[in-house]
Amino acid sequence: MGLLRQALLKASRSQWLANQASRRGFARRAVRRFIPGDEFEAALTAAKKLGSQGVTTVFTQLGEDVAEHAEAEGVTAHYLEVLEAIQTQSVRSHISVKLTQLGVDIDQQFCVDQVERIVARAAELRNFVWIDIEGSPLVDATLGTFRAVRANHTNVGLCLQAYLHRTPDDMESLMGIGARIRLVKGAYREPASVALPKKTDVDSQYLELAKRLLRDDAHKAGTVHGMATHDLRLIGQINDYARARGIPREAYEFQMLYGIRTAAQLQLAAQGYQVRTLISYGSAWFPWYMRRLAERPANLWFVVKSLFS
Ligand code: FDA
Repeated sequence: MGLLRQALLKASRSQWLANQASRRGFARRAVRRFIPGDEFEAALTAAKKLGSQGVTTVFTQLGEDVAEHAEAEGVTAHYLEVLEAIQTQSVRSHISVKLTQLGVDIDQQFCVDQVERIVARAAELRNFVWIDIEGSPLVDATLGTFRAVRANHTNVGLCLQAYLHRTPDDMESLMGIGARIRLVKGAYREPASVALPKKTDVDSQYLELAKRLLRDDAHKAGTVHGMATHDLRLIGQINDYARARGIPREAYEFQMLYGIRTAAQLQLAAQGYQVRTLISYGSAWFPWYMRRLAERPANLWFVVKSLFS
């Protein structure tokens, strides 16, 4: 892992830097490239625009490491409101939640209860809830929470990280229960004992896991797995593999982040592929934004430009 990438991921854990950055106008301006606004309404407006261009969306409110029950319950209440808004505004959007925002660090059963409330309401509204995956110490609790909620509801899916050594086994066992999976490369700072250190190895493992998802018969029952990557080479390889095996475009979807590879998102949608954009919003953007900088340190250039605009 490059030194700059390591430094950015380390910085993402600094509360002091988070406080400093939130007070600086240039940092807020740089962030706007990836986050349409602090308020949900800005995300809703962005989703409507993407919807008119054939791209569906996922909403996520930024925030993590919640330490109080009341704060986590506030996040649950917020997502319940978001689900209502999606329904009343007729937007084709799912939601995606982070378990550290819903109290997994406080008490796992409490967290299961929060996710259960959100997923149950989403089921009534015929909507779908994704669960993000965070640093490796939380993977067991995340999978446990997912399985507990999935036992009662089918409208919940889980993100898995290709860089983890354990993911091929986790994926296999989750496909056994018909789970819907969003595959990502992985965005956290992990030791080599836990995750593949070389990017080329992560890319290869991603492709193998994506092929495994494509071969999953679940799509015949309507379970559409998400290939969440901006890597155009991988996207080409996934499409080639699907085409060669006669797997239809409706059997999987590409997922990307708002503001990244926008032209490719629109082009794929125009070509008849399913594309879903994850739109983040909220004021607690610092750790999330630092992970985006770490993925592509050239993004630091936008921060520098924002200093002078
Ligand atoms: P890669 O990093 O190789 O990038 C490929 C190309 O895409 C780059 O060359 C560049 O052109 C472009 N690109 C990628 N990132 C960019 C950036 N930040 N800015 C500008 N250009 C960029 N991770 C996680 O650990 N848990 C999670 O729950 C999620 N959830 C999630 C949902 C969705 C919908 C997406 C798209 C991603 C995530 N991630 C995630 C993040 C994921 O793990 C990964 O860090 C990023 O997607 C970047 O990896 P790529 O697959 O895009 O490849």
